[in-house]
Amino acid sequence: MKILSIESSCDDSSLALTDFDNAKLLWHTKISQEHNHRIYGGVVPEIASRLFAKDLPLLLDEFNQCYSFDDIGCISVTNEPGLSTSLLEGVMMAKSLALCHHIPLVGINHLKGHIYSLFINESSEIFPICVLLVSGGHTMIVECYNYNDMRIIAQTLDDSFGECYDKVAKMLGLGYPGGSTIDNIAQTALDEFVTPISFPIPLQQQNTLNFSFSGLKNAFRLKLQEKSSLLEFIQKAMIQQDSIKQDLAQSLQQYETKILDSHLSELESLLSDIKNHADTKALCLGLQMSATEHLTQKCKKYLKKASNIKHFAIVGGASANSLLRHKIQNLCQEFKKTLLVTKLQYCSDNAAMIGRATLAKLNETPNWDTMKIFHPFYLDISPRNTEILPL
Ligand code: KG4
Ligand code: ZN
Repeated sequence: MKILSIESSCDDSSLALTDFDNAKLLWHTKISQEHNHRIYGGVVPEIASRLFAKDLPLLLDEFNQCYSFDDIGCISVTNEPGLSTSLLEGVMMAKSLALCHHIPLVGINHLKGHIYSLFINESSEIFPICVLLVSGGHTMIVECYNYNDMRIIAQTLDDSFGECYDKVAKMLGLGYPGGSTIDNIAQTALDEFVTPISFPIPLQQQNTLNFSFSGLKNAFRLKLQEKSSLLEFIQKAMIQQDSIKQDLAQSLQQYETKILDSHLSELESLLSDIKNHADTKALCLGLQMSATEHLTQKCKKYLKKASNIKHFAIVGGASANSLLRHKIQNLCQEFKKTLLVTKLQYCSDNAAMIGRATLAKLNETPNWDTMKIFHPFYLDISPRNTEILPL
């Protein structure tokens, strides 16, 4: 039997088909909305919701062209945590499909999806494992013993790691999402031996294992305010972005309209000036060094005491970060832990990880196919994570 999984928790529409018997990912497709939210500096819930209503049926049509519902034994969908208006789109489609085809419907926690992205295409799983989960909405250390037993050991007190990058990119006029943009600028700066602007490392002197990124974000803002020539380019880029927003506001849909070519090309050239500016490189390298050092220091503090855990992993959209991967690799060598990382193509949100998590959930739920809780009537969403709780 096969599992059809659906992801729509933030700004990616994705569907996947997973073989329940051998965990093979049979089919996977995704439409990202990143470029639609770019100039707004963050995800705009109404635009996201409208795009899900447009994109999810397109993906379902793709599925219908290659597969039938005959051997689908379970439909699963991300139902927490996420943007309510995004979650509802996937959940509504999943409910309709499950009701029409008389198939059980399983809700999956998005964070567990990221954790199971480690085991996509693998029939076995490695537990216990400690996971550093870094995404746009979350930054946490989670001890995982099995699907139903996962405990938050530490988490951010304010912004997440990915959110810090997104907000910094917005300050620089570089738009959403900021993670890979800032990471790329920092990597270039490192290759060019740029001297970084130094930032404090958050909570360095404090005994806590928790994280904090809002102080670092504000320190970045203050340093940026001293860079007058860079600020001039940012100012001009923001004016162009406002013109584009006005172009878009004239369309009812606010995402599919003609943006004046002159506005776009002027913006592209300003963005390139900002990215190549010496101050941008020094700022981004400094931020990257401090933010990844903060994560690494707290993980080190944890590993000093976690002798029972032999395996360590990093997952989530921001686990693609180049310097973070490098530092955590070194840390695992120092503490003789095996490091597991998600393949780059499955770091950001996708339905393949939701399918793999579904398989694990079903395996740990005897008689799942007859359980009332998996009737489509009973599935609800939650914007907050309610399944993985603090220790
Ligand atoms: O897991 P994900 O796709 O969505 C959420 O569940 O939030 O993560 C997206 C987040 C965004 O904040 C994005 O800027 C960040 O991951 N991100 C990165 C990198 N690539 C993506 N952050 C730092 N460095 C990166 N290379
Ligand atoms: Zn995610």
